Amino acid sequence: MGKNKNNYTVWSTRIKKQTSNNFIKVGSSINIDKRLYKEDIKGSIVHTDMLYKQKIISLKVKEKILWGLNRIKSEIDKKKFKYDISKEDIHMNIESRLFELIGDDAGFLHTARSRNDQVLTDLKIWMKGSVNEIDKLLVRVIKTLLNNAEKNLKTILPGFTHLKNAQPISLAHYFMSCVEMFNRDKKRFKNSLESLNENPLGVCAMSGTSFKIDRWYTTKKLKFSKPTNNSIDTVSDRDFVLDFLYNVSICSMHISRISEELIIWNSDQFNFINLKDNLVTGSSIMPQKKNPDTLEYLRGKTGVSYGSLISMLTIVKGLPLSYFKDLQDDKELVFNSFDTLKNSLLIFDEVLKGLIINKHIMLGAANKGYTTATDLADSMVKNLKITFRESYKITSKIVNLAERLNLSLEDLNLDQVKSIDKRLNNEILEQANIKNSVNSKKSYGGTSFENIKKMINKLKKEIK
Ligand code: ARG
Repeated sequence: MGKNKNNYTVWSTRIKKQTSNNFIKVGSSINIDKRLYKEDIKGSIVHTDMLYKQKIISLKVKEKILWGLNRIKSEIDKKKFKYDISKEDIHMNIESRLFELIGDDAGFLHTARSRNDQVLTDLKIWMKGSVNEIDKLLVRVIKTLLNNAEKNLKTILPGFTHLKNAQPISLAHYFMSCVEMFNRDKKRFKNSLESLNENPLGVCAMSGTSFKIDRWYTTKKLKFSKPTNNSIDTVSDRDFVLDFLYNVSICSMHISRISEELIIWNSDQFNFINLKDNLVTGSSIMPQKKNPDTLEYLRGKTGVSYGSLISMLTIVKGLPLSYFKDLQDDKELVFNSFDTLKNSLLIFDEVLKGLIINKHIMLGAANKGYTTATDLADSMVKNLKITFRESYKITSKIVNLAERLNLSLEDLNLDQVKSIDKRLNNEILEQANIKNSVNSKKSYGGTSFENIKKMINKLKKEIK
């Protein structure tokens, strides 16, 4: 190590030739993993403290190393650090600079650790922070949705199945369904913290170490909750990366489904919503256009997140234990997924805030397509004490009649209805009114105004 000059790799005594330049260009990960410099230095500081506490290095060496590491951190903070791709990654770049700054004592730092546990430690610390950031953005989106729901309690639109008008609902109920999705995402990310909180530091290359290290000490100082159990599994394991990429994919998929719905609602055929001008773009040829590019971006980016998940699944498939270079790509996938989701959540929140709701058009649409037919059938069951299957048949005949006469259910008069079944009366028909329909769904989780109001208040209290 004493002969470690800046232009030599640490293995240059063993490996006589410089690595192929072509390979250095693609095999180096410094341009990706330099993003981990804070975590790397933090991990090295705690490792150094532990080596001293365990009497593996002297006080003098510890202090020199800590001085050097802090100096390197400030160089990188101030963008004065020169990265060198021939040093492969952030770990080797920092170690090499430490040699320049403090000389041969830098060689003590890598006692009882390997880059294999080092990179995992850095990445897990970084991911814990990123999960936290995503959580905050999810809270922001959920609050916006709750606010939209509050403002649209009495906005009625058709709910769809098969994109055919099904039953009238409150728009607030729709927004609250989105709240459920993002609350599940929050939970999923939170659950991922359990494995992110297991400390890999100290498993070294793959079998542990004969040095009397204290993994519980580094666990505490690095704010993990326990050391990992098995050194081989630790350096091979990327399940926590897969969990993260999966969680990002599910969250993006939620954004994508809602975006698609909003794109449909924004179409000239539906015209349920418009987007504020800062959320649309124009056409280079068609002067009239206002295109919902923001929503299309959100829908499209989901493909990028899925790509990262599938890439990582493919990388680990068939990979024997323990560490292989193949695994190096994990960070790029995590960073890309994180950045994409972060941008998506920010833009999605703006879109939700910038929705212009065309309430009359929504209400008009809710009146089309016989959306209260189920209410009519239900009402017959209650008033005539008949089975639902019987009332379903009678109602189908009424719908057929309305369709033939080109009328809505509400427009049919009693005589017309009685021609289908003599037992029908006005009380039964009145139930087939849009507002009644929405407000009658008082079953837990249903769309009645009262239900939604309660749920908004409950979830507003719970969100943090
Ligand atoms: N840059 C490497 C990676 O991210 C660090 C671990 C290298 N370990 C090794 N044995 N080559 O995977």
